[in-house]
Amino acid sequence: MELEKLTAHGGDPATDQASGTRKVFIKTYGCQMNVYDSQRMTDALAADGYVGTETMEEADLVLLNTCHIREKAAEKVYSELGRIRGLKAERGRRGLETIVGVAGCVAQAEGQEIMRREGAVDLVIGPQTYHKLPDALRRVRDGEKIVETTYAIEDKFEHLPAPRRAEIVSRGVTAFLTVQEGCDKFCTFCVVPYTRGSEVSRPVSQILAEAERLADSGVREVTLLGQNVNAWHGLGPDGTEWGLGRLLFALADIPGLSRLRYTTSHPRDMDDALIAAHRDLPALMPYLHLPVQSGSDRVLKAMNRRHTADDYLRLIDRIRTARNDIAMSGDFIVGFPGESESDFEATMQLVRTVGYAQAFSFKYSPRPGTPGAEMDGHVAEAVKDERLQRLQALLLEQQRDFTARLVGTTMNALIEKPGRKPGQRVGRSPWLQPVIVDETAGEIGDIVSVRIINAGQSSLFAVPA
Ligand code: 5AD
Ligand code: SF4
Repeated sequence: MELEKLTAHGGDPATDQASGTRKVFIKTYGCQMNVYDSQRMTDALAADGYVGTETMEEADLVLLNTCHIREKAAEKVYSELGRIRGLKAERGRRGLETIVGVAGCVAQAEGQEIMRREGAVDLVIGPQTYHKLPDALRRVRDGEKIVETTYAIEDKFEHLPAPRRAEIVSRGVTAFLTVQEGCDKFCTFCVVPYTRGSEVSRPVSQILAEAERLADSGVREVTLLGQNVNAWHGLGPDGTEWGLGRLLFALADIPGLSRLRYTTSHPRDMDDALIAAHRDLPALMPYLHLPVQSGSDRVLKAMNRRHTADDYLRLIDRIRTARNDIAMSGDFIVGFPGESESDFEATMQLVRTVGYAQAFSFKYSPRPGTPGAEMDGHVAEAVKDERLQRLQALLLEQQRDFTARLVGTTMNALIEKPGRKPGQRVGRSPWLQPVIVDETAGEIGDIVSVRIINAGQSSLFAVPA
């Protein structure tokens, strides 16, 4: 999963400890699945009497929902925890209790070690055990210190409460929906199979019920989430085994759900039915995040990706034949152990061949416990820096070109929220770009036809068509 961003979840201004209402502050690191998980934790805690706050200083419960995918993630968490320790002591002097919890992938990877290093932490809870959060908090309040990092994803999905209508409404017209979690691919650079466990698909009935609830609350666009979302499968109500393609058709039938997306996919799991969905399902947006990581077969093999650069290119040809306006997005790693200059050049060449609308690129960072970390031929930091710069310059140029080519075209935009300037609204293009329009263009939640009159690096400026 990608999207390096930081989000704080909170809600209504709340009363204080004395009045019996507790406040929770959740800081979210990393991918969209963490964003989704933080929302579901907020839901689970709401059922337990907690209200969200945007201010860490006034929170009775501070939760860090952490990411372990790349370098120094854990260190960032420890330095944040240091700050929180001070805060907890300061609140303590005012007679206020503060529970400090670490959730997410660092929690899963480090477990007990977190408490050993940072005494202020009361609770360490891995991504598969969030449904146990209310119970764990009760025990913490009774004076226990708790580390909960067992794997049981099915339990999590079964027991996490559904989002409440009011909360969905406050979250807007687009939503994430986790359909699959965990990964069995074991790419040699990646911690996900260790932190998120093995691949589990949520049952069809649960997914459809959650999607219906979202649609009822005004959500128009749903992004299905999974570390290997296109490996999702499940038994349909018709008694046959469904893949993601079939599921997308069922979701598109839900009244109100007009736009569907899914992320992140593995090239090996793009089956014919899913490619056909891109051809036949107008609700499925023409944008696909399909990471390749490298353009060199040698590196791909060392990464255990189990496909060649040519396999990937042929796959993209098939997808583009099915849906010719589809835009590609990807993830790349530079400086994997053993990557030579000519390996890197093969990546550059693949990028030139594909032409990406957007992409995420990273320097390889050895993750403890993964095979990559033990490999020979680690690449010097300066070389990684230099390669990353060249790759990002190329990707940026492609992104600019892609955006610029849309000027003069007409497209549908989903109006999402008020703009930064008065009188403006921000919509979303089929290709995920923000579309800035006048507020007269439509109400929030409307899908309107707009003509693009200008473009920035990644945003579009439009007028009603
Ligand atoms: N080093 C650098 N990048 C990584 N990613 C995953 N693990 C590592 C690592 N050890 C990148 C991959 C993946 C994205 C989510 O993060 O490109 O697709
Ligand atoms: Fe990590 Fe590879 Fe699984 Fe993606 S497919 S989550 S990169 S192991």
